[in-house]
Amino acid sequence: MKSPCPQIVIRDLVISPPLFLAPMAGLTHLALRRVIKEIGGVGLLSTEMLAARRLPGENPAISSFLLRTEQERPLSYQMAVARAEDVAPAMAALHRLGADAVDLNMGCPAPALRQQGAGAALMEAPDTVRAIVAAARKSTNLPLTAKIRLGATLDEVKLRDFCLLLEGEGIDLLTVHARLRGESFVRPPRWEWVGRVKNWLSIPVVANGGIHSPADGARCLALSGADGLMIGRAAAEMPWVFAALATALHGAPPPVTELNLPSVYHRFADLLEAHFQPERRLGRLKEFTHYFQKNYAFGHHLAMAVQSSSSWQEARERAEVFFVKHEPKVVALGR
Ligand SMILES: Cc1cc2nc3c(=O)[nH]c(=O)nc-3n(C[C@H](O)[C@H](O)[C@H](O)COP(=O)(O)O)c2cc1C
Repeated sequence: MKSPCPQIVIRDLVISPPLFLAPMAGLTHLALRRVIKEIGGVGLLSTEMLAARRLPGENPAISSFLLRTEQERPLSYQMAVARAEDVAPAMAALHRLGADAVDLNMGCPAPALRQQGAGAALMEAPDTVRAIVAAARKSTNLPLTAKIRLGATLDEVKLRDFCLLLEGEGIDLLTVHARLRGESFVRPPRWEWVGRVKNWLSIPVVANGGIHSPADGARCLALSGADGLMIGRAAAEMPWVFAALATALHGAPPPVTELNLPSVYHRFADLLEAHFQPERRLGRLKEFTHYFQKNYAFGHHLAMAVQSSSSWQEARERAEVFFVKHEPKVVALGR
């Protein structure tokens, strides 16, 4: 008998298969989330990071950070927060928006965030973290998760204490981007360190960093023993990566067996057109194209053509010209 698809359950939320979309600024908005969801294989979607201080004042009907559709479920909202007093009002806003889970950003090394004391800076401020997580736990019954890197240096005791603090204050699931704060994406991720974290904690642990294929996913799971995998850049390069992972790792194939690449790109652009204000579309198409072009041997031509477009129409026409001339047209999802 075929074993059922594995799942992670945190509070009332069932995440099945245990494959997570990583929060990515400028990328994990409505359009990419919808494309990924329509192809299938993803267990939990995510917004990009949202500043806790600004959340209560944002208008969800027009804010391009908050736009979403009912199809994007389950959807986790990621909060970037530096002060415990900002948590409760931000959480109230996320309840109004219908969040299925809330993630606390504790790993982002971007200097702008660190200067405010948010993101990776929080790993250096355990007392602030304790207050933030306690405030978050007090203000919601939703699944509450956190995303970290391994720290500023490889310091096992410090990392363990930090992870135990998060679990002790009521975090339901922890995602570990298996790199140090200052390490670039070029460096191979330290998946075995996710395994150490997994051994210290009782809550589910999700591994993140450098997973681009089912082979990467299998190796990461073998090295880390993680409960799930989180995918970032590969989700923008190949929105079907979740379907490929779900098929190969969890025996949960998507309904379709092959995809037309230009159709995936056009669907993404159509969703931007349908939901975003005209002035918010082109930048997002350029950002996505930077990743999507990696599917083509001459993808830099597509990237340059779209990058140098001065209007939405021009970008779409240039992309179409590229797709007519270049292979591949189709990608097989395999079963
Ligand atoms: C363009 C971009 C934006 C990102 N924005 C966020 C963010 O808003 N919040 C966050 O926690 N991590 C952010 N990250 C980090 C990713 O969530 C993820 O940890 C990282 O890309 C490693 O995973 P990957 O190798 O699968 O891409 C971002 C990464 C990229 C490339």
